[in-house]
Amino acid sequence: MSETIEKEILDNNINKVNHSANMLKSRFYVCPLCGNVIHSMFEAEINCHGKQLIALEAEHTDNNHKINIEVVEDEYYVRIDHSMTKEHYISFIAAVSGDNMQMVKLYPEGNAEARFKIRGAKKFFFYCNQDGLFSVIPNRIH
Ligand SMILES: [Fe+2]
Repeated sequence: MSETIEKEILDNNINKVNHSANMLKSRFYVCPLCGNVIHSMFEAEINCHGKQLIALEAEHTDNNHKINIEVVEDEYYVRIDHSMTKEHYISFIAAVSGDNMQMVKLYPEGNAEARFKIRGAKKFFFYCNQDGLFSVIPNRIH
């Protein structure tokens, strides 16, 4: 947490400053013990099962984590080319825009796919339980 924000909290001025206005700056945290997924709009100190969680750093998609995005009416139909075994699977897909966040939780043995309203989807995130967080901006993959 930056010194400025820390000082504002200490001064009880935090309600006067809106640091979380842009959801494109979303942070995601995953508990390594229980798999809990936590979203925040800005930096936060998150603890789960007694462990402090570090915000995940999103990587660019790679050949083992390819994302396919199709437009179907007013939605993006998103598929990840990836296994969905209990050992190695995509745990969630999220779509964010400046003022919106849509998240779909996925489970082993299910499909690595989800639909999102186009209006609230400027950037996608998805999380592999073995390889971490990935992100992509739709306009840049077409
Ligand atoms: Fe993976």
